[in-house]
Amino acid sequence: IQRDSRFKKLSAEDVKFFKDLLGSESAVIDGLTQDATDDLEGFNADWMKKYRGQAKLVVKPQTTEQVSKIMKYCNDNLLAVNPQGGNTGLVGGSVPVFDEIVLNLGRMNKIRSFDDVSGILVADAGVVLEAADSYLAERGHIFPLDLGAKGSCHIGGNIATNAGGLRLLRYGSLHGTVLGLEAVLPDGTIMDDLSKLRKNNTGYDIKQLFIGGEGTIGVVTGVSIHCPQRSPAVNVAYLGLPSYEHVQKAFREAKGQLSEILSAFELMDTESQQLYVRATGKSLPLADEHPFYCLIETSGSNPDHDSEKLTAFLEHVMAEEIVADGVVAENETQAQNLWACREGVSEASQHFGGVYKYDLSIPLPDLYQLVDDCRARMRELDLISIDDESKPILDVVGYGHMGDSNLHLNVATRRYDKEVEKALEPWVYEWVQKRQGSISAEHGLGLAKKAFVGYSRSETMIKLMKQMKAFFDPNGIMNPYKYI
Ligand code: FAD
Ligand code: MLT
Ligand code: ZN
Repeated sequence: IQRDSRFKKLSAEDVKFFKDLLGSESAVIDGLTQDATDDLEGFNADWMKKYRGQAKLVVKPQTTEQVSKIMKYCNDNLLAVNPQGGNTGLVGGSVPVFDEIVLNLGRMNKIRSFDDVSGILVADAGVVLEAADSYLAERGHIFPLDLGAKGSCHIGGNIATNAGGLRLLRYGSLHGTVLGLEAVLPDGTIMDDLSKLRKNNTGYDIKQLFIGGEGTIGVVTGVSIHCPQRSPAVNVAYLGLPSYEHVQKAFREAKGQLSEILSAFELMDTESQQLYVRATGKSLPLADEHPFYCLIETSGSNPDHDSEKLTAFLEHVMAEEIVADGVVAENETQAQNLWACREGVSEASQHFGGVYKYDLSIPLPDLYQLVDDCRARMRELDLISIDDESKPILDVVGYGHMGDSNLHLNVATRRYDKEVEKALEPWVYEWVQKRQGSISAEHGLGLAKKAFVGYSRSETMIKLMKQMKAFFDPNGIMNPYKYI
């Protein structure tokens, strides 16, 4: 791709406008009139170190009014903008492609209100997910989304990507839990739709377009979200299973027997766990190796009742030989260690140099077959070896949110390599298309998936999306080159 020549190149005069508007020194990183290469690095490079922009300017507004003035100025002057939250996105959407201005929400980090009767939280978009959850924990509630990047990602970024995370099977999608949004449109208009109502059928539900909109139609500045009661009793179990068939059986049993207290059902293959061990030097919770592992979490209000149910479930699945071995956390630290085996796979799979990530929705019966097929393909092409440093790929690993039919296929490499990419794409997308899956379950499109939307969406749907984008952003200044 080439830089769109319609966009204005940043001038010293533009930089002065932003500095005057935002006042404080720390609110603008100016790489145009100063040398700020080091300071800009963290805003230009993505989490995987796979995508890198060339922004010369980062602006960090503190109020919605400031965001509005920034957007109006950029729209009037045809300056392209890249909204950015915690920069933990995994599809190259969070960093510029060329010299787009980075509009980082990190300084908009205030909780605006919380009502502990209704559980409705209203907060700035730049509140870090973990900070929001800690605030809620002190008030007996929980943020209805949790993910491995919680310490860095923003709730606004979560909404912009429609993140799914570790407990979607219990708390549902952000399309259901988000009650209202405040957003700034590309021309600077403030869209105040910060409703605190569970039900609101007065016309089109326009905020839904911003959930998963990945910063292409506006900047999310405020969020109103329904937060559930925090469960006082939480149990975590880590199980070893002999095959993917057994994993499906275990899921069926978990839904049947744990039903309303089931809050996570996560899948990890043995390769993903071995990679975690290799990257961290830690050991796995079970003594023997098993082809598959599941992490099951229950959350309920009565510890005795929950333990009884979990014990009965485990006895049953062991007696039926659905599960070969398992361990239940006896305290908070052990629970965290079990979760680390699952959450740590993201870091582990890129630890050795690079990773090709595929975040897919696939009907459950077929879900794991892709990992086997992919591994076989990489072997056939002689691209893979865990020990031979001359091969680009270390391993192909599968893990993900079994409870949501969401597989993460990760190809862990020693370096980013065009030959590997060519072997994987569009092969993976064709595989998924044949099974009527989705090429983007929860991470979004960004730059990585833009060219492949047609594998999961019809021409009619793509045309409607393009029309929608043009309606909100006629000048195309919002997160250009990406999404659609
Ligand atoms: P960024 O990465 O900064 O931005 C992501 C996209 O949203 C970009 O397109 C950006 O332009 C846009 N954007 C950000 N903020 C705004 C805003 N205020 N207004 C408009 N647009 C905005 N995702 C899952 O779904 N489930 C997981 O389990 C999960 N686990 C993860 C674990 C790790 C270790 C990591 C690194 C990532 C994980 N992710 C997961 C990816 C996920 O998309 C992000 O972590 C998170 O939702 C992005 O939030 P962010 O604030 O970092 O946004
Ligand atoms: C996860 O479920 O761990 C995340 O979506 C991140 C990843 O895929 O690595
Ligand atoms: Zn995930």
